[in-house]
Amino acid sequence: MIEQMNMAEKDIIILGIESSCDDTSAAVIKNGVLLSNVTASQAVHEAYGGVVPELASRAHQQNIVPVVDQALKKAGVTKEDLSAVAFTRGPGLMGSLLVGVSFAKGFARSLGIPMIEVNHLQGHVLAHFIKQNEDDNHQPEYPFLCLLVSGGNSQIILVKAYNDMEVLGQTIDDAAGEAIDKCSKVMGLGYPGGPIIDKLARMGNPEAFKFAKPNIPGYDYSFSGLKTSFLYSLRDWLKEDPDFIEHHKEDLAASLENTIVEILMKKLRLAAKDLKIKQVAVAGGVSANNGLRNAFHQYAKKYGWTIFIPPFGYTTDNAAMIAITGYYKFMDNDFCTIDLPAYSRVTLK
Ligand code: KG4
Repeated sequence: MIEQMNMAEKDIIILGIESSCDDTSAAVIKNGVLLSNVTASQAVHEAYGGVVPELASRAHQQNIVPVVDQALKKAGVTKEDLSAVAFTRGPGLMGSLLVGVSFAKGFARSLGIPMIEVNHLQGHVLAHFIKQNEDDNHQPEYPFLCLLVSGGNSQIILVKAYNDMEVLGQTIDDAAGEAIDKCSKVMGLGYPGGPIIDKLARMGNPEAFKFAKPNIPGYDYSFSGLKTSFLYSLRDWLKEDPDFIEHHKEDLAASLENTIVEILMKKLRLAAKDLKIKQVAVAGGVSANNGLRNAFHQYAKKYGWTIFIPPFGYTTDNAAMIAITGYYKFMDNDFCTIDLPAYSRVTLK
């Protein structure tokens, strides 16, 4: 009895580790409240216009120990205070994942505490449950819809519980972030294109140019047609004016962003209407986009949605979302064994 009481009163402190792509991140969450979230990004890829897997893996190896050290120090806890180590198992780049997975397993084993595997996509969705302080209660109630948009995913997810998510629709080709990055590359802008397009779009006319929109059934998305339409239109315009991009880059960015946001919101609205759900969230790297965030506010007003938009720090890859998922799994005693491999591809069921 006394032992049980002590268990119930004991703080649950989770160290989360994320290394699925090009961000090495570690975070500490205590009883669901965030204590620290430290991320080392990798500028080395900028020169190549995309993430180079081998370089990412090497940078993770350099970053992982100092990042974890900083996260513990910022949180004001020692490694002996930890209840468990949660880590991104996948999906992601195998060489990158292996660094975080191996570190997490070794660290947990050396401390004699449980290890918890986390699906990166589930982590993005559960970022909405990270509490900034004890009184932070702005969290969605189940069931809610989540638009997960990143460089690798564009999905509409029905979230029934923290561990029960159903993908209602997803891209059949490129992801939204991938399309933005590729169009930005065609325009000769830097990498990653998302934030650059976002910035330029603020100064442009979203109706200046029209690009192809997909016409596919259900809640699925497609962005490859838009990408081709952007490329071919640009090629024609450049024949007439070799400086077309320079003369119109703000309008091009605004029109591209507007087209992508319209495509994303149309299907999301359809799902919300069909399922009669009014709590709608957005997650993933593209959720940092100002045009998409504005559209969420407009839809909230128009359709009476309660919306959940993550703070900028939780839009791109971060370990806070892995730690919060680990926290919920910890409460369910959902631990994993040391022989568990990383996986590069996986869906949310
Ligand atoms: O979730 P994330 O960090 O990584 C994965 O893909 O898992 O998402 C990265 C994507 C990239 O395509 C990047 O260009 C896009 O998110 N992104 C943005 C913005 N910030 C990042 N896209 C549009 N507007 C932004 N502000």
